[in-house]
Amino acid sequence: MANSENLQSSVSSIAPVTSPFLNYLNELHQKYQSLNDGKIADYIPELALAKPEWFGICVATVDGQLFEVGNCDQLFTVQSISKAFVFGLALEDHGREYVNCKVSVEPTGEAFNSIVLDEITNRPYNPMVNAGAIATADLIKGKNSTERLKRLLEMFKGYTGRDHDINVPVFLSEKGTGFRNKAMAYLMLNFGMVSEKIDETLDLYFQQCSIMVNARDLAMLSATLANGGINPITKQRAIAEEYVRDVISVMLTCGMYDASGEWAYRVGLPAKSGVGGGITAVALRKLGVGTFSPLLDKKGNSTRGVKVCEDLSRDFGLHLFNVVKPTHNLEEWILR
Ligand code: DON
Repeated sequence: MANSENLQSSVSSIAPVTSPFLNYLNELHQKYQSLNDGKIADYIPELALAKPEWFGICVATVDGQLFEVGNCDQLFTVQSISKAFVFGLALEDHGREYVNCKVSVEPTGEAFNSIVLDEITNRPYNPMVNAGAIATADLIKGKNSTERLKRLLEMFKGYTGRDHDINVPVFLSEKGTGFRNKAMAYLMLNFGMVSEKIDETLDLYFQQCSIMVNARDLAMLSATLANGGINPITKQRAIAEEYVRDVISVMLTCGMYDASGEWAYRVGLPAKSGVGGGITAVALRKLGVGTFSPLLDKKGNSTRGVKVCEDLSRDFGLHLFNVVKPTHNLEEWILR
């Protein structure tokens, strides 16, 4: 359970070996391990190597406790989950007004790879669809491609507390087959929405999707946002306080692809998913949830991960607009 080996700083508080909350997570894991609905992403061969039984759940609290069950050490590529965090870095690099001139914050209701721009402003709709994510990656500062990637990896380290590698075969496959992304990038270049270093930016985008993470990292990413931008274990600031609200607002409205409305209605937590099988979800001022299971539903969200988040939200009253007394009391169980 509480395993902080990969965190390079001290754990402020380690959860007890058994606890009601850990028992609850174990039950959740057992309940959904047998759910085999969905399909592993196979648009590149490397992703198809994932095993359907892989399943990890990690919860990190804002007071630095970690609770984990299942495959929480298994590495996979972060894919679209990176988009939320790169948006945060772009905001830090340029400020809200400038970033918003280049990327809107409007949900599309369309698939993440749709080739569509706002007809009046030519902006991509939001930073969570591919076009918006590429325009956002374009904003990441650095004197060359190495420095831009280094800044991006440093930013991830700020959230997770550990160093991250790129999965090079995934990066090369994404780059070698990402013609649709290239088409969108060049369409945006045509409209002057991205800079002429667009080929370098496309590489950066493919690299950000290829960053290796595990379920614990995903819990730390969202726990850091839940904690106002400070990693609850290392105590390091990962994102300026003023931009946490921007990132989690867009996660709530656009983070779960074209199932974002359904997700906001059912789960009510800002979240982001990726085709690698990860989901990260933020319960503000309380905790972060990281789930990993590569079987994806038709919208591209992890089938088991969605179920886990639905249960957690309902049982602990985590929905942003919840007004009823939950069956389980989070404060009593873990947040004292
Ligand atoms: O750009 C792509 O096609 C993928 N690397 C994005 C992956 C993903 O998780 C889907 N996005 N929303």
